[in-house]
Amino acid sequence: MMITLLFPLLLTVAKAIDLDTSSKTSICDATALIQDGMLDYYEGIRYGGTVGMFQSPYYWWEAGEAFGGMLENWFLCENDTFKEIIYDAILAQTGSDYDFMPENQTMVEGNDDQCVWGLTIMDAVERNFTDPTDGSPGWLYMTQAIFNEMWSRWDSANCGGGLRWQIFTWNSGYDYKSTISNVCLFQLASRLGRYTGNDTYLDVAESVYDWLVDVGFINVANGTAYVYDGADISENCTDITTIDWSYNHGILLGGAAYAYNATNGSSVWESRVTDIVEGAKSIFFSDGIMYESACQDYDTCNNDQRSFKSIFSRMLGFTSVLAPFTASTIDPLIKSSAAACALSCDGGTDGHTCGLNWQDKTCDGNYGLGEQMSALEVIQNLLIHDRPAPYTASTGGSSVGDASAGLNTTTSSADVLENNLTITSKDRAGAAIITAVILGCMAGGAIWMLF
Ligand SMILES: *[C@@H]1O[C@H](CO)[C@@H](O)[C@H](O)[C@H]1NC(C)=O
Ligand SMILES: *[C@@H]1O[C@H](CO)[C@@H](O)[C@H](O)[C@H]1NC(C)=O
Ligand SMILES: *[C@@H]1O[C@H](CO)[C@@H](O)[C@H](O)[C@H]1NC(C)=O
Ligand SMILES: *[C@@H]1O[C@H](CO)[C@@H](O)[C@H](O)[C@H]1NC(C)=O
Ligand SMILES: *[C@@H]1O[C@H](CO)[C@@H](O)[C@H](O)[C@H]1NC(C)=O
Ligand SMILES: *[C@@H]1O[C@H](CO)[C@@H](O)[C@H](O)[C@H]1NC(C)=O
Ligand SMILES: *[C@@H]1O[C@H](CO)[C@@H](O)[C@H](O)[C@H]1NC(C)=O
Ligand SMILES: *[C@@H]1O[C@H](CO)[C@@H](O)[C@H](O)[C@H]1NC(C)=O
Ligand SMILES: *[C@@H]1O[C@H](CO)[C@@H](O)[C@H](O)[C@H]1NC(C)=O
Ligand SMILES: *[C@@H]1O[C@H](CO)[C@@H](O)[C@H](O)[C@H]1NC(C)=O
Repeated sequence: MMITLLFPLLLTVAKAIDLDTSSKTSICDATALIQDGMLDYYEGIRYGGTVGMFQSPYYWWEAGEAFGGMLENWFLCENDTFKEIIYDAILAQTGSDYDFMPENQTMVEGNDDQCVWGLTIMDAVERNFTDPTDGSPGWLYMTQAIFNEMWSRWDSANCGGGLRWQIFTWNSGYDYKSTISNVCLFQLASRLGRYTGNDTYLDVAESVYDWLVDVGFINVANGTAYVYDGADISENCTDITTIDWSYNHGILLGGAAYAYNATNGSSVWESRVTDIVEGAKSIFFSDGIMYESACQDYDTCNNDQRSFKSIFSRMLGFTSVLAPFTASTIDPLIKSSAAACALSCDGGTDGHTCGLNWQDKTCDGNYGLGEQMSALEVIQNLLIHDRPAPYTASTGGSSVGDASAGLNTTTSSADVLENNLTITSKDRAGAAIITAVILGCMAGGAIWMLF
């Protein structure tokens, strides 16, 4: 009896991910297994599949987040195995104007969707990922196109400023000013400012940050910053949804760390980074283990939310590097979370599928693309100090840009319709269903990105 029970148990243990947090080989072996798990969901390497897209139910934006994690892995582990997959995926989704508004997405695309891809493309710039060789403009050009288009959508007519969540009037969420769209624009501005040395970007970063504070989406209490989800414009953005998601918090933090670094350590940015790190630590860690506090304890995390720890981990890593005074706080949290996370990667038929709740120290039965990419990013960020900091144009970056990219092509609602991405009756029906779902969620008080 003992023996028959013990045997399968030993087999399982042997298959789980065995992580030595101080060994680069061990970290990169672990993340290789985890990426295999991600690619199980990837359409682009299957016959007839769309390059750059993961299978349903994973939306387009999440592909942008996933390839950002894989691009970082390419850089941190110095392993070219997936380089071509990443390169092909990004180029396939850039769209004819090189602004990450590909035709397949424009009907439903939000500012946040475009911008999460933007963070990945900026990463390609800062990691000196090979610029396109097919005649397409450089990654820097594409990031500038995204930035310029987003900044041109800044809406001063409502709530004193801010980007709307959605780009197009027909999408539900058009009347919602979402924090994700705004913190993401803020981060792109900070990163472009640091990379190019052009202060105009840093001025934009400053105005977006100031607006987020004015409108109350960033709320600092007793040295701890809370980052709320957003508000509808109908009451001048005063009816705020006060949920703090790790991706909002993390992207704000990362943007502030870039601004801190770009200003050679200004005391204003130092104090902002300090408050946001304090919030990150107190809201998203329990016993030193990272968790999505707004949904994990209640087992209500949807597909999008299950991926947030991925971009959050990436941002903690950047912050530790670019604002070195935070390293003594952040690095131990990454280490303890990565160790716990690896223990959760013992599920699935392959024996190394990762779970959602890292506190469980074994796979909790939740699994999917979001769980895999969160595991990837928390574990690979153990290496963040072993490789160069994100490059700038003067320290090793080589991507070719154009400060006016995207300004010729700013896509308005009218343009989209004119370009014959006409709304068919099928699209309308789809949009109506989506609207109903979103309204249902809003009524429930929880708002998240559907696209
Ligand atoms: C590079 O990555 C591939 C795929 O994840 C893996 O099989 C290989 O062992 C890695 N190479 C090294 C040197 O770690
Ligand atoms: C757009 O959607 C069509 C139909 O699903 C697909 O065949 C095509 O590959 C997609 N293109 C991109 C760039 O995603
Ligand atoms: C609307 O909100 C913005 C941002 O908080 C504020 O600056 C502005 O004064 C408000 N306008 C009115 C009419 O209350
Ligand atoms: C701030 O700290 C003080 C003293 O520790 C406490 O009384 C107060 O409730 C705190 N305020 C908030 C908003 O947490
Ligand atoms: C930061 O330092 C560099 C090098 O000393 C200098 O060229 C640059 O002007 C400084 N930037 C700011 C914003 O102080
Ligand atoms: C900016 O980041 C670099 C790279 O990590 C670091 O060496 C430098 O000290 C940072 N600047 C400040 C002011 O902390
Ligand atoms: C960046 O890429 C360019 C072009 O491939 C190369 O010449 C340059 O050496 C690279 N920079 C670094 C820091 O590796
Ligand atoms: C700096 O960036 C702004 C905003 O994109 C642009 O208008 C300006 O031309 C840039 N300046 C330089 C010197 O590139
Ligand atoms: C924008 O359009 C002008 C005039 O047609 C052209 O000279 C310029 O190169 C274009 N800029 C970009 C970034 O495409
Ligand atoms: C858009 O569609 C209409 C009707 O199908 C056609 O006449 C027009 O030429 C198309 N415009 C573009 C820019 O393709």
